[in-house]
Amino acid sequence: TWQDVPLAPPDSIFKLTAAYKADPYPQKVNLGVGAYRDDDNNPWVLPVIKKATQILLNDPTLDHEYLPITGLPEFTAAAARLILSPTSPALAEGRVVSVQTISGTGANHLGALFLSKFYNWDGPKQVYLSDPTWANHHAIFRNVGIEPLNYPYYDPKTIGLDFNGFIGTLESAAPRSVFLLHACAHNPTGVDPTGEEWEKIAEIMLSKKHYAFFDCAYQGFASGDLDKDSSAVRYFVEKGVPMLVCQSFAKNAGLYGERVGALHVVPPTKDAADRVKSQLSVIQRSEISNPPSHGARLVALILNDAGLFEEWKRDIKTMAGRIIDMRQELYSVLSDELKTPGSWEHIINQIGMFSFTGISAEQSRELTEKAHIYLTTNGRISMAGLNSHNLRYFAENLDKVVRG
Ligand code: LMR
Repeated sequence: TWQDVPLAPPDSIFKLTAAYKADPYPQKVNLGVGAYRDDDNNPWVLPVIKKATQILLNDPTLDHEYLPITGLPEFTAAAARLILSPTSPALAEGRVVSVQTISGTGANHLGALFLSKFYNWDGPKQVYLSDPTWANHHAIFRNVGIEPLNYPYYDPKTIGLDFNGFIGTLESAAPRSVFLLHACAHNPTGVDPTGEEWEKIAEIMLSKKHYAFFDCAYQGFASGDLDKDSSAVRYFVEKGVPMLVCQSFAKNAGLYGERVGALHVVPPTKDAADRVKSQLSVIQRSEISNPPSHGARLVALILNDAGLFEEWKRDIKTMAGRIIDMRQELYSVLSDELKTPGSWEHIINQIGMFSFTGISAEQSRELTEKAHIYLTTNGRISMAGLNSHNLRYFAENLDKVVRG
């Protein structure tokens, strides 16, 4: 047994964390995994999370019983209001199905498995993913028998959106195709469609009856504003595009290890929603039985208390603000001080945790080998890994590899 199991390569993102940790070089920089760091390069426990944790600790009624199969109701209901807006007509009509998941990855998996089993496939099971996308998307869909296809997204010439390529594929794809869309702060490029571009995307999706599979891992993290970052999702619901949305609280609540997330499916009627929910419960039962309680309790406390909610919004602004400052500073060091060849405007135009620098795989590897700067070989950098102490070191080394 097992002699024939092929050796798999390590994960392209998490292997960077391991290599960074093992590196004794004092000036090493980790720009790999998308995890927030403060200006001293430490993980940041949000003050509001510390407060909510204290409240839980002091709650004498707290037990360790199983949650319901679809999760903590006060969490899933509040999470749905957060992403779809408290005044969403779909919520008022009782046609939103919300299931607590093992963070965003679990939501993607549950959504993909549900589609694999129940979507009315006309042809082969396929999903269109943006080129490029978070590497894990491919594996998640393949695992449930759905073949990933690419749609054009990133244009290396402009280091921006290939909007014409994108809508060209929306137009030419068979009707009722499934498209995975990053709700905001596209991973890995940091390039998002504008409001007008989203409107056009929704219009074509609606007319072609395509299914929108939204992944929203960065609500609040992109702009600092929770409502603004969910505007595409809300617009699609308003227009009646068939859709679901995967929601993660890893980044915006700093709850990476707690695995707090939800899947929200928005069918056209309450009757369909009830049937969808019954099937999601059956799948969830066989996959994880019931989701973990601790992180969901923390988020439920924050979302259901006006005071804590305001504090959370301030914490989100702190994180988003620091990242935006780092973009500004990196841009000015490269453009104004070092006069690094090329244009670096994309650093300030891109949004969210990541920036796609536009450097080649070879240049990315050179940064790692020569300067102990860890990043994925597609040239993506996690902006959260930059701070006032290491930004210049990074910029100078980037300048060197660009000059060759
Ligand atoms: C990333 O892309 O770095 C993050 O989303 C973390 C992950 O799970 O890959």
